[in-house]
Amino acid sequence: MTAVELPGLELPGRSRAVERMDVERVAPDDLARALADLDWLTALGLAHRPTLGWLARIARGRETLSVLDVGSGRGDMLRRIAAWGARRGIRLRLVGVDLNPDATAAARAATDPALPIVFRTGDALRLGDAEAPDVIISAHFAHHLGDAELVGFLRWMEETARVGWFVNDLQRHALLRAALTGIGRVVPLHRFVVDDGPVSVDRSLVRAEWEAALAAAGIPRERVELRWHMPFRWGVGTRP
Ligand SMILES: C[S@@+](CC[C@H](N)C(=O)[O-])C[C@H]1O[C@@H](n2cnc3c(N)ncnc32)[C@H](O)[C@@H]1O
Repeated sequence: MTAVELPGLELPGRSRAVERMDVERVAPDDLARALADLDWLTALGLAHRPTLGWLARIARGRETLSVLDVGSGRGDMLRRIAAWGARRGIRLRLVGVDLNPDATAAARAATDPALPIVFRTGDALRLGDAEAPDVIISAHFAHHLGDAELVGFLRWMEETARVGWFVNDLQRHALLRAALTGIGRVVPLHRFVVDDGPVSVDRSLVRAEWEAALAAAGIPRERVELRWHMPFRWGVGTRP
C-alpha cells in the first residue's frame, strides 16, 4: 500500500507554517551546504543515538538487515548505520529515499561508493511495498507531514516493514525553539537551517499527539515504544 492520507486526526497545536527547504528550489550546491549544516546541528544534538540504539536492539541475533531511510537528506544517518553494521559484522542493504533530487545528489556525492548504500529520489507517501525492507526509519522527517499524512505514514510503515520501524524526531518545546533560534544568531549556518529550525520545532509533536497519531493509525499501543531522548527528541518505534 502507499501512505494515503488518513483523515480523522487534527492536531491544532502543531504549526502549519512551511519550511523553506520544502518549497524553495535553490542551486544544488546551495542545498548541499544547507544539508551539511543540518548534519552538523544534528550531530551536536546527539540525534543519531536513539536510532542506532533501537537498531542495535532490533538487529540482535541477525546477520543481515535491510534498512529504508525515508527523507534521507544528505545521507548522514545511513553512513553512520553502515559504520555501525561494519563494526558488528552485520551485512546491510541500505536505501535512502528523498523527495528532492538535489538531496539525492548531495547524498551520493557525500558517500563512499563502496558502502552498501543506494540513494533514490521518491515521495515517501507513494513508495508502496514492492521492496519491503526489514526496517523503515526516518529522522527529522515526520514533522514535515500534515496530520493526516503522518497517520497514513505510520500505517504504511506498520504494514510494510518486515521487522519494525522507527521515527526519530524533535519534541515541540519552547526551550528547543529558543536554543535553535539562538544558535542561528551566533553560528553562521545556512539560511534554510536558521529559518527552518524554529519552524521544525513548531511543527513537531508532543507526547499526547504521538499517542493520538498512533491510535488514529490503528497501531496497537503495546507494539510501540514512545521514548523521550535528551535533548528534546522523541523516538517512536516498534518494540524490538
Ligand atoms: C529536515 S530534512 C532531514 C534529513 C535527514 N533525515 C536528517 O536527519 O538530517 C527532511 C528531508 O525530508 C525530505 N522530504 C520532505 N518531504 C518528503 C517526502 N514526501 N518524501 C521524501 N522525502 C521528503 C526533504 O527533502 C528533506 O531532505
